[in-house]
Amino acid sequence: MGKTPTITFRKMTADDAEQVAEIDFKSFSVPWKMTDYWRYAQEKNIEAVVGEIDKKIVAYAAAFVAFEESEVFKIAVEPEMRGLGIGTKIFAELIESVKKRGATKITLEVRPSNISAIKLYENFGLTSIGKRKNYYTNPTEDALIMWNTDLFGSL
Ligand SMILES: CC(C)(COP(=O)(O)OP(=O)(O)OC[C@H]1O[C@@H](n2cnc3c(N)ncnc32)[C@H](O)[C@@H]1OP(=O)(O)O)[C@@H](O)C(=O)NCCC(=O)NCCS
Repeated sequence: MGKTPTITFRKMTADDAEQVAEIDFKSFSVPWKMTDYWRYAQEKNIEAVVGEIDKKIVAYAAAFVAFEESEVFKIAVEPEMRGLGIGTKIFAELIESVKKRGATKITLEVRPSNISAIKLYENFGLTSIGKRKNYYTNPTEDALIMWNTDLFGSL
């Protein structure tokens, strides 16, 4: 793995929606719309962060927070910038921000075929506790359900 480029992190704002939606479009077979990100960046129960290199957004990650639980619903890195450690760094940022909100647990769903994402989550103490049958479309695939139920003790 190469050296991680210098990247800075900050909270996502509504003004970031266009750049975030561009990465989303390149990253997911069922992408979300710019208006989704515009809305989510302003919701109080969501923690969303972006990573920038030279003022250009190259990664984003977002999670719902409800009391002690948080649920990651998006994480993506600009395709040509993957494998450089950026996903690891932004996931660490997201975890710190949900911990500051009082979350002690984190969960998410992931395609079993998404080896790099699963490796990333395992590195942060998440383990697979079950499956949701045919959860994903385009292509149809089960989802692995992953949890870390002790964010403060394990990280
Ligand atoms: C998943 C994703 C965010 C990871 O970002 P990234 O910047 O490539 O991740 P990192 O470089 O920090 O690597 C994370 C881990 O995955 C491993 N990894 C990265 N690319 C890999 C690959 N092609 N094959 C196997 N492992 C890989 C790395 O080695 C690293 O583990 P290590 O630190 O133990 O060596 C990125 O691939 C992405 O945006 N994918 C498309 C969107 C997506 O699938 N999001 C997740 C939805 S659940």
